[in-house]
Amino acid sequence: MGHPAVTVLLCQLSLCAAIQWLGLPEHGGLGWNESQQCRLLLPEQLQLCRRHLEVMPSIVRAARHTQALCQQTFADMRWNCSSIQRAPRFGPDLLKGTREAAFVHALAAATVAHGIARACASGELPLCSCGPGPPGDPGPGGRWGGCGDNLGYGLQLGAAFADSARAARTGTPGSHAVNLHNSAVGRTVLSDSLDTKCKCHGVSGSCSVKTCWKGLSSLDEIASELKAKYLTAIKVSHRLVGPRKQLIPKEMDARPVTETDLVYLINSPDYCTPNLQLGSLGTQDRQCNKSSVGSASCDLLCCGRGYNTYTEEVQERCHCRYRWCCSVVCRTCRRSVHRHVCK
Ligand SMILES: *[C@@H]1O[C@H](CO)[C@@H](O)[C@H](O)[C@H]1NC(C)=O
Ligand SMILES: *[C@@H]1O[C@H](CO)[C@@H](O)[C@H](O)[C@H]1NC(C)=O
Ligand SMILES: *[C@@H]1O[C@H](CO)[C@@H](O)[C@H](O)[C@H]1NC(C)=O
Repeated sequence: MGHPAVTVLLCQLSLCAAIQWLGLPEHGGLGWNESQQCRLLLPEQLQLCRRHLEVMPSIVRAARHTQALCQQTFADMRWNCSSIQRAPRFGPDLLKGTREAAFVHALAAATVAHGIARACASGELPLCSCGPGPPGDPGPGGRWGGCGDNLGYGLQLGAAFADSARAARTGTPGSHAVNLHNSAVGRTVLSDSLDTKCKCHGVSGSCSVKTCWKGLSSLDEIASELKAKYLTAIKVSHRLVGPRKQLIPKEMDARPVTETDLVYLINSPDYCTPNLQLGSLGTQDRQCNKSSVGSASCDLLCCGRGYNTYTEEVQERCHCRYRWCCSVVCRTCRRSVHRHVCK
């Protein structure tokens, strides 16, 4: 586990992904140590790591957040992102140019830029501080103050890290172009989320005086926006158009690719049944929701195979009363719940 030679070997077999750095938490932790841990990265990232050791804790945190957010955002889908925990040893679902890989590249790029922008604002990084106050008036009763997220610095360093040349040039030229495009989509969604936030002051919350700053959306919001883009992602091919290669929609009637569309190269399996070659784990034994009509419904999640129902007894605190002074006393109630699990 975590031996540098393993990482290098995997890369030589061209199995290493631009998102390899998502495996950093497994190796590192937050006590960052140059000689040991920078070496786990791809060559261009290694240089950046040595030059910017101070941002590495933010990058490790971003890797953790990316893993957690992806699983949370896809918890009710057939593909539930559990394979991201294998980082840096990804399976075909994330190594080939699938829709799922598109989502993860975009989320990872957004998360790392977000993390650095926030770290600047919180005073954690010596080379950056609060984002610039914007020109213009923040609105009635407002004044600029506080400390904004430093989006500019986050985007710059985040892109340098996530898109570093060799890291992204793994795989075919087509998947390189697709990865770069999707990372840029992640950063565009993040940039577009920069908004004026204000805090009220004044007598008993009257909000007669406000302090305002420019802040980014939460990563939860960014992740759900990217999930919507995942659902409408466009299948492309990497083709010569005039003098250079571009990402062109595969379907003749598809809309043109814009800088906010996620793109992918190959169709994903339906993830219904296990198939290791395709990176599908199948949905057997997944818990489904009988009253839902969405992706977590037993019908969709179990792919029409049906489900088994189990009755389970859960214990809860109930009939709680406040007792003078000063405790809350509850009884324990038992309740039966039905759980439905895919066949
Ligand atoms: C980094 O880790 C290595 C091996 O664990 C150790 O020998 C070295 O002293 C550490 N360096 C720092 C600066 O902590
Ligand atoms: C995600 O799906 C896999 C494969 O079906 C399953 O083993 C795992 O328990 C699921 N994770 C969650 C949190 O539901
Ligand atoms: C199941 O789906 C229904 C309807 O969408 C929702 O209200 C409920 O919270 C879901 N239950 C669980 C356990 O997720």
